[in-house]
Amino acid sequence: MQTEKQTLALKATVVIIDDDQNILELTALILSKRGFRVFTALSANEGFLLIAKHSPELVLLDYMMPEIDGLSALHQIRTGYPDTYVVMFTGKGSEEIAVELMKGGASEYILKPFNNRNLVERLENVLKIREIELHNVKLQQEHDRLLREIDQWNQDLQKRVREKTEALQAAQNEIVQSEKLAALGYLSAGMAHEIRNPLNSIALFVQLMRQNTRDPDQLEYQGKILKEIERVDSIIRKLLDASRRTRTITSDVQLNHVIDTALEAFAPQIETKKILVERHYHVTPSPIKADPAELEQIFTNLFLNALDVMSQGGRLTVDISEENRRVTVRIGDSGGGIPQDILPNIFEPFFSTKVCGTGMGLPVAQRIAHIYEGSMIVESTSPTGTVFRLDFPVYN
Ligand SMILES: Nc1ncnc2c1ncn2[C@@H]1O[C@H](COP(=O)(O)OP(=O)(O)OP(=O)(O)O)[C@@H](O)[C@H]1O
Ligand SMILES: [Mg+2]
Repeated sequence: MQTEKQTLALKATVVIIDDDQNILELTALILSKRGFRVFTALSANEGFLLIAKHSPELVLLDYMMPEIDGLSALHQIRTGYPDTYVVMFTGKGSEEIAVELMKGGASEYILKPFNNRNLVERLENVLKIREIELHNVKLQQEHDRLLREIDQWNQDLQKRVREKTEALQAAQNEIVQSEKLAALGYLSAGMAHEIRNPLNSIALFVQLMRQNTRDPDQLEYQGKILKEIERVDSIIRKLLDASRRTRTITSDVQLNHVIDTALEAFAPQIETKKILVERHYHVTPSPIKADPAELEQIFTNLFLNALDVMSQGGRLTVDISEENRRVTVRIGDSGGGIPQDILPNIFEPFFSTKVCGTGMGLPVAQRIAHIYEGSMIVESTSPTGTVFRLDFPVYN
């Protein structure tokens, strides 16, 4: 039956480096009898080659050798092969050196002359310690790896929580906005009727008055009243547009046609304002099932805003592309851009920076885009212009 020590020795490879042939042979004999796999070298350089070749668990190294001092040989082995443990042979009476060697990385020192049992016992002790230490190193590495993994998980988790929170926030904002629009629809549908009828009567009476007067002042005032009535009426119309829920006609609509129709209505303004229109229709987009009048409203609202910011002329670009069953439209202007501080508000109902703006253009356009499961965002904005991007899924 093998003892535990023998098992340990049987597995271990040892390289003995000593310039004394007798010691070399004797030690090799003792150790191989004990079950070690032994290689011997008469010089340090020869020993280094053996170490490189056999990766021994142990090296028995003589301190006193002609061509290299024991301490630097020890250093070379310990730095080059950290898993190889070194036991030093030292002459009797050199305990101070032995202490220095231990500090330099030796695992043990054996005073010459030595006896067999003592040699084997001490080597086997070193082997045991080595096994425990290497195991500890492995555990430590595993521990560090797990810590790093946990840290990575933590970071991923934090990132996901952040993303989810942002998405939730965005969804909440959208709910608030659509609730505002719904409330608005309820109110405006009722109000529109109540206001538009008397407004109509006022307009009619003013028109009658106009027929009976030639006084230029009177005519001017009446003209102004009619203009203001028209303005009130248009605000009410916009409110109604914003709240309209039922779609009348749904048909296969091609966005390029819708956009062309919307643009046509602006032809006179485009000409007077000397605006260059660039159409980049990269594809003929797949048709979308929608109410064409509703889709036209989106582009009308965007063109109105674009023309507002290009009062001194400029460039209006329309870009249509399609990829992965999504039609993308980009409407760009060369106006002054949207200031960063109002950017988060522009899709809010009633948000406007214009003297006569109702602040309904963008929220209505976005609501319509959402009805068709599309999206509408500001893709870029800077003092040289703004690009709005719309995306619609194609289902047919
Ligand atoms: N292309 C653009 N360039 C710069 N600012 C813009 C642009 N489009 C919209 N805005 C800003 O967003 C605000 C909201 O636009 P929105 O169309 O909703 O309302 P409005 O144009 O002010 O009024 P309405 O369209 O109801 O007459 C505008 O007042 C303006 O400040
Ligand atoms: Mg507008």
